[in-house]
Amino acid sequence: MSVAVVLPAAGRGERLGSGVVKALRELAGEPLLLHAVRGVRAVPAIGCVVVLAPVGLVNDMAVLLSPYDVVVVPGGDDRQESVRHGLRSLAADVDLVLVHDAARALAPVSLFEEVIAALRAGAEAVVPVLPVADTVKRVVGDRVTGTVERTDLRAVQTPQGFVREVLEKAHAQLGPPATDDAALVERLGRTVVTVPGSEEAFKVTTPFDLLLAETVLTRRARGR
Ligand code: C5P
Repeated sequence: MSVAVVLPAAGRGERLGSGVVKALRELAGEPLLLHAVRGVRAVPAIGCVVVLAPVGLVNDMAVLLSPYDVVVVPGGDDRQESVRHGLRSLAADVDLVLVHDAARALAPVSLFEEVIAALRAGAEAVVPVLPVADTVKRVVGDRVTGTVERTDLRAVQTPQGFVREVLEKAHAQLGPPATDDAALVERLGRTVVTVPGSEEAFKVTTPFDLLLAETVLTRRARGR
């Protein structure tokens, strides 16, 4: 079965506060996107890779990624729209699609392989998850209105894996936007299964995350 990756990297990334597009923020002297693509390309089972770029940066990102075998196409107004653009760019022979945020630039090869293995074992949709360590409360204004039972909560990461036709059907539905692709598959009433996530697959969103990401890279360079 042929596996493709759709890599949304078209967000503006205001939360990092630099005015630079998030996927191009530097991590250890290189753009985050380059780290993300290198990680994806290190997975032997992955064939085609489609990167979604901000409309004005398609050429710049294509030049940046030219050492790697990837296709760069314009993203959409929100993440969901970007993924849709990516799906439209896939070759006809792709059976399985992993959607992976460029912001999770350090997701390890083993995580991609676990997701692919679950799909090959028959799952239609797969998400990596981690337990939620913090107590989670509902707050209105500055008032706590409730405490959420934590036992069955999970924090969800990417890569999320799908049988291609299931993901295409999920994206073809009308409805409110979702914050991940699996939520669209859930709306179809299809089963989404989990695999254990990885702490290293965290989303690099804040300046603090960049510090953490640098530490992960240093540790990897030392072979740990
Ligand atoms: O903003 P957020 O952290 O949810 O973005 C998740 C991923 O979706 C990021 O990699 C971002 O670049 C991407 N994205 C996109 N197109 C958009 C908005 C976000 O590809 N219009």
